[in-house]
Amino acid sequence: MNLSGKPISYWLDSSNTTTFPVLNEAALVDVVVVGGGIAGLTTAWLLKQAGKSVAVLEAGRIAQGASGHTTAKVTALHQLIYADLIQELGEDKARLYAESNQAALDKIIHLIQSESIDCDFSFQDAYTFAESADQLDAIKDEVDAALKLGLAATFVQQTHLPFPIAGAIKLERQAQFHVRKYLLHLAQQVAGEGSYIFEQTRVHTASEGMLCTVKTERGKIQAQDVVITTNLPILDQGLFFAKTFPKRSYIVGAWISSERAPAGMFIGVGDDYRSIRTTPYEDGQLLLIGGEGHKVGSRSDTESAYQALEAYGRERFNIDTFDYRWSSQDVVSFDKLPYVGKLTPLSNHIYVATGFSLWGMTNSMVAAMVLTDKILGRPNPWAKLYDATRATPFLTRTSMEENLDVGRHWLGDRMKALQKSSLADVQKGEGALLTVDGKQIAVYRDHEGKLEIVSATCSHLGCIVNWNSAEKSWDCPCHGARFTTAGKIICGPAVHDLEQHPFQ
Ligand code: FES
Repeated sequence: MNLSGKPISYWLDSSNTTTFPVLNEAALVDVVVVGGGIAGLTTAWLLKQAGKSVAVLEAGRIAQGASGHTTAKVTALHQLIYADLIQELGEDKARLYAESNQAALDKIIHLIQSESIDCDFSFQDAYTFAESADQLDAIKDEVDAALKLGLAATFVQQTHLPFPIAGAIKLERQAQFHVRKYLLHLAQQVAGEGSYIFEQTRVHTASEGMLCTVKTERGKIQAQDVVITTNLPILDQGLFFAKTFPKRSYIVGAWISSERAPAGMFIGVGDDYRSIRTTPYEDGQLLLIGGEGHKVGSRSDTESAYQALEAYGRERFNIDTFDYRWSSQDVVSFDKLPYVGKLTPLSNHIYVATGFSLWGMTNSMVAAMVLTDKILGRPNPWAKLYDATRATPFLTRTSMEENLDVGRHWLGDRMKALQKSSLADVQKGEGALLTVDGKQIAVYRDHEGKLEIVSATCSHLGCIVNWNSAEKSWDCPCHGARFTTAGKIICGPAVHDLEQHPFQ
């Protein structure tokens, strides 16, 4: 199947690759941050500003995971959330969520302006739009809820989209930026003067003692405090893998003239919602269309996700050619709130931030502010709301279905391995699961016919991985770990590669 566009995130393709060193000798700092995405880099930056020495440890290259694949909308308008939060958690907690995300937006704007960060920043109005009249009640409820919580939302029926809508929530003076240009600036300021960024340094464990000890594939590093910001935490003690689910979504990018580019940032509602924004590109704009989200590992035919987005672009924006396509992976919290704070009730110096639920630009800044205050011993008005050790206050139907889905994978995985019966059945460019000598293996045959064979058992907690045809990867349906066809980790929570199979 031919997909158009470069298979790389525009943010990655249009920014420099980093070359921070690997960890090569034991080090001692005030705070180790595990994970060099937006949450980790922002936390490290704030802590260094406050006088702490920090070391960011990144398994690959910084800002290349979820942070390098986002739509990079910086807004407190999170599709539809406020009416639900009021209903599920009450008005006080919902107000804290709104306030903290608005404060995060303001902090990012201030940071970009005070540091003169050249990152294609622009103020934009944010919209959540409904195309059909039967979705209007949800939009109107959200406007009412947002207003009640102090956000200056309005109901509108006209936008700059080139197609009619039934209605939308509008929140003015939100923002967008080039996420990697922003993060690379922060990273340059984090490294130096007794603070460090170490890349290609995968962390295996972290533990508390007189000091915290972080063990990596390249040696140890010690610190007073440790912050884990690896999308889903690589440490399992907090059971975050059971309180969240991993979601993949897709983006296509196409050049559009500035005259035809819609002003604003948009997201639809309903199962087939689309996320839309533009960014400066060549002599016009790059129109980004996102959507087709699904739980990791639950869809093998991922090419069709790109095709659906392209079809939307052709129909709604009259696009001929697509320049980019990429996918992203987010950790979705069952109760809609991120988890920020201590890893477990017994932890004193190990902290986590996860569950940003597709709104990581502002939620990561909220997390960074909360964690910085905690480490510095300062009070924080939002810390209790996001407490990572909280009992999940309500179980939604969605969360129960997601949990059941994970459970089904644990049981059903063993059956899946029967799907192909011999290596000869695996076609060029195809991945398949087989049972050989009682072992479940994941087999990929490349376009030259060469086989790559690895264990199909995820190195995290033992689920069976699933094939992802568009990305050519093995994705774990349980908690979202992903691996290359050679079994190398693309993203955690796994910290070890898939085992090689002796057939090689
Ligand atoms: Fe947890 Fe695979 S990611 S078992």
